[in-house]
Amino acid sequence: MKDKIQSLQTQFAADSKNVDDRMAIQELKTKYIGKKGLITELMSSLKDMDKEDKKTYGQLINQVRTEFVTVIDEKEKSLAQAELDRKLQEETIDVSLPGEKIKRGSLHPFNRIIEDVEDFFVSMGYDVVDGPELETDENCFQRLNVPLGHPARDAQDTFYIDEEYLLRTQTSAVQARTMQENKEKTPIRMICPGKVYRRDDDATHSHQFGQVEGLVVDKDISLADLKGTLELFAKKMLGENTKVRFRPSFFPFTEPSVEVDVSCFKCGGKGCTLCKQTGWIELLGAGMVHPNVLSMGGYDPKVWSGFAFGTGLDRLAMFRYAIPDIRYLYTNDVRFLEQFARKDEENVIK
Ligand code: PHE
Repeated sequence: MKDKIQSLQTQFAADSKNVDDRMAIQELKTKYIGKKGLITELMSSLKDMDKEDKKTYGQLINQVRTEFVTVIDEKEKSLAQAELDRKLQEETIDVSLPGEKIKRGSLHPFNRIIEDVEDFFVSMGYDVVDGPELETDENCFQRLNVPLGHPARDAQDTFYIDEEYLLRTQTSAVQARTMQENKEKTPIRMICPGKVYRRDDDATHSHQFGQVEGLVVDKDISLADLKGTLELFAKKMLGENTKVRFRPSFFPFTEPSVEVDVSCFKCGGKGCTLCKQTGWIELLGAGMVHPNVLSMGGYDPKVWSGFAFGTGLDRLAMFRYAIPDIRYLYTNDVRFLEQFARKDEENVIK
């Protein structure tokens, strides 16, 4: 019996030596200490022995069983530890690794310009107002001193919807609206950025483009107020060194009317291809609100006066960011747009 027990120990030692995974441990358990395992088998072989031997060998076999259990337990424990170690190793975060770059979107140059224009005028106490793109002929033309059949209509190739409605050709329509809607006839200080439409399409013209309108109606407003305001505006948008020049012009809704030029920001006024060697670039149209427009808006021109201006947002964006073709602003090429993720100052040509 002793030999049998010893050989079982030797067999166990050999079997358990290289056991290092869950399945093998389970097999070892079943084989030696399972219900129908070798230990049970050995125990049952004691049944025909006398009482003394039964006791002695019974104890011995139990001891061996405890040894086996201890070995198997240890194996299970070290396996669990190894698994835990491996898991921890896998889940380690190396904080010194460079982070993943998050791709940031950028504001469209158009929106950047609108934000800047709004910031400037809001800081001067102006309201930002809105108007519909589908306008009435009355607001877009008649109330701006352009009656039906007036030749000035030809200058703006209009998309008519029917006799009464059209796609607005100019944000000036919002001048007429604002004056009408201001029932108390209090002073007005407003700007209105928005889309306008004309039947036009080439490298410098698009059938849809952006304008920003400005209107001030108050008492004792003079051309000097207009000049001072637009000078500040030009410097703010195009740089401190920008010079401003006023030329006489014509718009049916302003009298006198002016065209405002700025010194060429590319050559500084010396003359280059951009300014066609003149040193100046046309920026906007403006003037003192025509008395007829004031009257039609319900303001007595003997009491009230005002100025208005209108400029192309596309033009401003093209000047400010040196964009050579207006169509870049509308084709939404991501490579083009990504350039505007940078800070404003980096995009302004100096
Ligand atoms: N609406 C004019 C245009 O589209 C610009 C303008 C606005 C001129 C206000 C004078 C006053 O050309």
